Formats: sequence, C-alpha cells, structure tokens
Amino acid sequence: MPVLSSSFDPAADSAVENRRAAERRLDEIAALLEQLNAGGGLRYTERHRARGKLTARERIELLLDADGPFLELMPLIGWGTDHPLGGSIVCGIGVVEGVECVICANDPTVRGGTMNPYTMRKLLRAMEIARDNRLPLVNLVESGGADLSSQAELFVPGGAMFRNLTRLSAAGVPTIALVFGNSTAGGAYIPGMCDYTVFVDGGAKVFLGGPPLVKMATGEESEDEELGGAAMHSRTSGLSDYLAADEADALRIGREIVANLNVRKPGPPPAGRSDDPLYDSQDLLGVASADLRVPFDPREVLARVLDGSRYEEFKPLYGSALTTGWGTVHGYPVGVLANVRGVLFSEEAQKAAQFIQLANRRHVPLLFLHNTTGFMVGRDYEQGGIIKHGAHMINAVSNSTVPHIGLIVGASYGAAHYAMAGRAYAPRFLFSWPSAQSAVMGPQQLAGVLSIVARASAQGRGAVFDEEADARMRASVVAQIESEQSALANTARGYDDGIIDPRDTRTVLGLALSAVHSAPVRGADGFGVFRL
Ligand code: COA
Repeated sequence: MPVLSSSFDPAADSAVENRRAAERRLDEIAALLEQLNAGGGLRYTERHRARGKLTARERIELLLDADGPFLELMPLIGWGTDHPLGGSIVCGIGVVEGVECVICANDPTVRGGTMNPYTMRKLLRAMEIARDNRLPLVNLVESGGADLSSQAELFVPGGAMFRNLTRLSAAGVPTIALVFGNSTAGGAYIPGMCDYTVFVDGGAKVFLGGPPLVKMATGEESEDEELGGAAMHSRTSGLSDYLAADEADALRIGREIVANLNVRKPGPPPAGRSDDPLYDSQDLLGVASADLRVPFDPREVLARVLDGSRYEEFKPLYGSALTTGWGTVHGYPVGVLANVRGVLFSEEAQKAAQFIQLANRRHVPLLFLHNTTGFMVGRDYEQGGIIKHGAHMINAVSNSTVPHIGLIVGASYGAAHYAMAGRAYAPRFLFSWPSAQSAVMGPQQLAGVLSIVARASAQGRGAVFDEEADARMRASVVAQIESEQSALANTARGYDDGIIDPRDTRTVLGLALSAVHSAPVRGADGFGVFRL
C-alpha cells in the first residue's frame, strides 16, 4: 500500500505560530478540565468525603480494569452557561472485565447530582452511543433528580431518559445501576428501568418522594430508610437485586455482573497491521492552521494517524479539494474523506457519494476530517448542478449504514457540515480539535449577507440606508458569530462528543473504532434516489 510522505517542517514560521496558537487553546481547555475534575469544589467535595463517600471519578476508576483507557465524552458541556460545567455527570467509555461499557456517574458534589438540561443532553447522548454500538450501560447513581430551578426545560423532554433506558434493555443492550446515594423522584426510575441494580447499604435512598413530600401529599410521617433504604429495597420491595456492604463492594458486584453478561464482540477482530505512523504525532499541533482561512493538507494529519502512514488514495486526480482513500487505524480499516481546500465543488460531492457507496459495499467505517467552508456558490456552479451534486453526497451520507466517525480539524460550515456527516447526521462519534469552528457560515460572510439584505430592504422601502448603524450591526454580528462558532461554544451545547488534544487523535480514533466494532458493521443495501 502507498505510504504518505510529509513536507511539514516543524521549524517553519507558520508551524511555530500554529503550535503556539494550539497550545494557548489547550491551556484554556486544561484549566477547564481541572475545574471539572474538582467537581462542585472543595467545600462540597470535603463534605462528601466526610460522609465516607467516593467521588464520581473515583467510583469510575474503581469500576474500570486497572490501567484501562477511559474515553471521556462531552466533558465540557454547559461551558459558558448558567449551569455547572460538565452537566453534573461524568460519562465515557471504559473497559470493565474486558468489556467496553458506557459509564455515566452522577457527580453528587455538584448541586446534589441533580439533572439540568445539559445533564439530560449528555445522558441521552450516552444512551444513544450505548444503543448504536451495543455497549452495556453502567449508571453510577447519586442524584437528587431534577434540578428544580430548570425544571421547565427539563421535565417534558427528560422523560426520554427513562424511555430510552428500557428501550436499550428491549434491544438487548444490558443496563446496570449501582446506586450509592440519593436517587429521588424521576431519578428513582434510573434503577427502576435497569436490568440489574445494586444498592449500597446505608447509602442508597430511592424513593418517588422523600419524607417531606410524603408528608405534604398524604400527611404520613416516614423516615428515609423505611421509605427507600437499600435494605428495604433488597428485602421488601425487590427494586434492588444486590445489597452491597459499601461503595467498594457495589463496584465489585458491578464488575461481576459485567463479567457474567456474556458480551462478545461480533468480530472479526482488527485484521490489519497496527504499526505506528512514520511521522510524529507531536507535529499535529503545528499542522492545523491558526488562521482557518489558510488551508492545510489533511494528508499531513493522516500521515500521523493512519497505521504505518499507509493511505491508498481513491480518485486523486478528480475533485482534488476532497481526498478520499483507504487506510487502517490500530488495525481497523477506514475509508477517509478529508477536505483539502475549504470549498466543495460538484466533482468533490460526486466523488464523495461514490466513495461512500464503495465503503458500504466493503462494510468499512468512514472517517470524516472536516475543514470546509461550504459548497461553492455562483452562477456557473448553480447551472452546473451544485445543489443536485451536494444532494448526492447528503443522500449517500444519510443512508450509509457503516459507522461514521467525524473529526472537525478546522472549519465546518454550511451544508458541507451536513454532507461531512455533521452532528445531525448521527455520526457514531464526533470530536473536535481546539481550532475547530462550526456555524452556518463564517462571521464576515454572515454579517455581509445581513448587511446586503438590509440595504436591499431599505432601498425597497425608499428609505435612506444608515451606513453607521450598518457598520455597528456588522461588527456586533461578527463578534457574536465568532463566539458562537468556536470549538468550546459548540461542545458546550453538546454538538460534539468532546474536544481532543490533536496529539491524541490516533488513540481517540482507535478507541472509537474499537467501540463501533462492538456492533455488527454492515453497509447499506440501498440509498435514496440519486437525482442524475
Ligand atoms: N434542585 C435544585 N437545586 C438543588 C436540588 C434540586 N432538586 N437539590 C439540591 N439542590 C441544591 C441545594 O439547594 C444546595 O445548594 P446550595 O449549596 O447552593 O445551598 C446544593 O444543591 C446541595 O444540596 P444539599 O442539600 O446541601 O446536598 P446534600 O448532599 O446534603 O443533599 C440531596 C442532596 C439531593 C439529597 C438533597 O438536596 C435533596 O433531597 N434535594 C431535593 C431532591 C428532590 O426533592 N428532588 C425532586 C426531583 S423531581
């Protein structure tokens, strides 16, 4: 198989500048992750420990196989909002008794582990990942239920959390709840809907309504233990399957349950060689342009991600603003689609549609490296059928059934974001580099369009166009879009599965590819009608 060469010079001015910009962004992210790891802060964490309890992250660590990986998902959701960073829950994929599982742990040090709209988005996404990749879901529960201050945004859509749990069970994806503490009201249905439940003696308290609510509703006087204690649920109500002596015992029982699930990957295991790339992953910080208007060759990324830097490029002479080709990552075969120069023309769209069909015939997952400013506009391109050809690509990507893994390494704008399997196109995983930017179009273009529309409207009304107000509007729109399109702003809304350090790309893709192979990988039998 052909091997990629590299013309990247880490000492070049542009590479040094790119690296510095990437390091600045990574420092910002590292500070946020540090804040996240501190949970609800010192006061709440110390109080939690004084109660003899483990933190959410310690629970996860004890559940996982020693030295096994943990691919944390959506860690920075909620950034920049009034809600706590991270959605008061830790979610990720880790290996328990040799089985890859989705693990979600409420963080009880953050507002009593209560669920806000971002907790809901994260949990629903985690359930989606468990469903699509057929990974057992282990919930480490300690949550006061709904965050009552945001109940209006949470209550109605939040019902899907319980519906989806039972649908996972119906689909044969095992669901487990280890309950460490409070699991109140709606939260009580997390163990209620799981296949297996483990309650910690003296810790778990699971009730639809706690003593004050019961008093309010019926006048009955009651105490926590008789209303929802672990011993009561294990001996009387039957909601608990296993009574654990303490937290460590619950985690041990949880591991035993997973070990006995009889989960086997549908196989075959990765067949390819999984030798390291020929080029250093450290270079990746210098490869991505600090200024996204400057395109960079994604083959420099592929040369540092694919096994042995081997890449068999498909149709290299046609539609060269998009490279398509075959390679392997940690031995797993992938078909790659990567933007070379920002814009997608008709040729690129048609080449992509053909390539996606081929990957489906081969039953090979697809890797999308986004760095695109959108489909080309203009008279010649419209007359040449750019909409029709873009629709071919969107049709192919929408109906393709092999797993899609996306990585936004630069820009991802407009319909090209969709055509490259953007979030709404259900990629199995979507990660971003810190330099990523995603929006309907770039800030300058968007402000310019609004300005032209306003000018035409004023002309139509016969009004005088206020140039100064227009300049102010454009400046404010540019500032708004710049803040809304950043990797952080998008990850904050749950529009990706996390921002990754570019140097970790190969590892993250390897973990994601391993996860997708927990479900059968099968290509589509048919696509929608291609308008020819
Ligand atoms: N909604 C919004 N905020 C809540 C909350 C809820 N359901 N439950 C707790 N909080 C807040 C508390 O007001 C407190 O905020 P503060 O520190 O700024 O004053 C913080 O979370 C921690 O709560 P606290 O009660 O001190 O922690 P705890 O560990 O001792 O107890 C709970 C945690 C969850 C057991 C307890 O707070 C509780 O029972 N909450 C009500 C649960 C409930 O009825 N939920 C209804 C869901 S439909």
